[in-house]
Amino acid sequence: MPSNIDPIERRRTFAIIAHPDAGKTTLTEKLLLFGGAIQMAGAVKARGDQRRARSDWMKVERERGISVTASVMTYDYDGHTFNLLDTPGHEDFSEDTYRTLTAVDSAVMVIDAAKGIEEQTRKLFEVCRMRNVPITTFINKMDRESRDPFDLLDQIEQELQLHVTPATWPIGSGRGFLGCYDLFHDRLVLMAKGSKGAMPELGETCSGLDDPKLDALLPADAVATLREQVEMARALCPEFDLEMYREGHLTPVFFGSAVNNFGVRELLDGIGALAPSPRPQPTAGRTVDPTESDVSAFVFKIQANMDPKHRDRIAFVRLASGHFKRGMKLKHVRSGKLMNMHNPVLFLAQDRELAEEAWAGDIVGIPNHGNLRIGDALTEGEDLRFTGIPSFAPELLQRVRPDDPMRAKHLGRALEQLAEEGAARVFKPVLDANWIVGVVGGLQFEVLADRIRTEYGIPVHFEPAPYYTARWVESDDPIALKSFQDGLRSAMADDHDGAPVFLARNAWHLDTVTKENPTLRFLKTKEQT
Ligand code: G4P
Repeated sequence: MPSNIDPIERRRTFAIIAHPDAGKTTLTEKLLLFGGAIQMAGAVKARGDQRRARSDWMKVERERGISVTASVMTYDYDGHTFNLLDTPGHEDFSEDTYRTLTAVDSAVMVIDAAKGIEEQTRKLFEVCRMRNVPITTFINKMDRESRDPFDLLDQIEQELQLHVTPATWPIGSGRGFLGCYDLFHDRLVLMAKGSKGAMPELGETCSGLDDPKLDALLPADAVATLREQVEMARALCPEFDLEMYREGHLTPVFFGSAVNNFGVRELLDGIGALAPSPRPQPTAGRTVDPTESDVSAFVFKIQANMDPKHRDRIAFVRLASGHFKRGMKLKHVRSGKLMNMHNPVLFLAQDRELAEEAWAGDIVGIPNHGNLRIGDALTEGEDLRFTGIPSFAPELLQRVRPDDPMRAKHLGRALEQLAEEGAARVFKPVLDANWIVGVVGGLQFEVLADRIRTEYGIPVHFEPAPYYTARWVESDDPIALKSFQDGLRSAMADDHDGAPVFLARNAWHLDTVTKENPTLRFLKTKEQT
């Protein structure tokens, strides 16, 4: 058996998915608190609209002139190494969030106990489902008036088509929330009395729900309800099945109150015990097993530098296999060039600057000048192409103009860089001098305008464009493609790589052109190349 099985086996790389306000930030903080990565609650806080954790990152940021927000938080707990990947938390579609989900092996879905499943939870869940990412559910805010637990379980089952098995069962809710019964370990855990933020006790081990200890520790009506409800839940829900969970068909459900530290330990233990260690990663030719000795990795996110004086970026790379060491040389498969990993940002030690190595499942930040793009592979020589890193059909298209027309050329270069980074799609219409920018969420226009102004020094404005959607056009017959392009010049554009794109004026236009050209492929997305 390969010698690197242990460090890989103990890794748990996961993300939290939630609708804004469900408690993702609070839960992140509490997971770090229980994991011993932070000493005090309050370390993960909204700062402006960027959420950061761990002030010691600031030093790395200052030294390198690179802003590394709390994208990866690593901590050891109970024999496991957890990599918690942050997903940006606004309501708008965020491509970054989706791509982050390609780099995790499991996810925690946080649901507000009063609201149930909300819009963004559903969308993020769908992305997890596409990749069979196993989901652990945390129903948060049980200290508030909540929906009936059966209703909540039913909603998950019906709306997400996901089997549910309660891992813990809540005793009351709102002011009457007393705690939970841990069904996996037959343990009664009660809310700590007194101040908010007190750490809950480890709980009382029971011999089952009939244990007279329960009668001694809980009011009679609460015990009766608990016994009745658990009996019903056991009759209605399937028993926990590890394989079904790992395949993404069943979710264990934990109840709690993150702000009160309640239920967090059980959740963390649950992730440690149940969530998968780094999974094999698909590539065009074969599947890469995490225990392979050669290092291989793919870029799933690029973060641009916030300092306008530097053009540096950090590429976030997920290690698919092997044992990564600072200073090693890896092949950048797209260009065929060797890259020296002389100053990777490793997130693995309490003092990050001393970290020297990483394993499959870990995330490494690689500073670069724009040569790394989303989807790129780094290997010890093999020409791997990782698949399944999503590129999104731009659903909103706008024209972008520089406030100063003399800066048009500079704007073009800035847009190309942003497109390479994966921040937006950019299209140069054949017959129009202005660039068209395509995004999947409206907020991205504002973010882009801000970035172009601050990072490239070009004030710009976006304005409506007469386009409905964009399709990449491909064909096995180059002559047919050329004649299509020539015949429809007013609707054609090139993307930042020079690939032909059809810009449809409306749904009818798209439909007609697609039908009239059966030999061409009109693609909603283009694989990142
Ligand atoms: P998000 O990242 O998913 O957007 O949610 P966040 O953790 O910021 O939580 C949203 C609000 O819900 C916060 O209140 C937070 O304190 C509260 N919250 C989180 N977990 C619980 C819980 O278990 N019980 C209750 N009652 N509230 C919870 P806020 O008023 O918006 O902010 P703050 O001033 O409390 O920080």
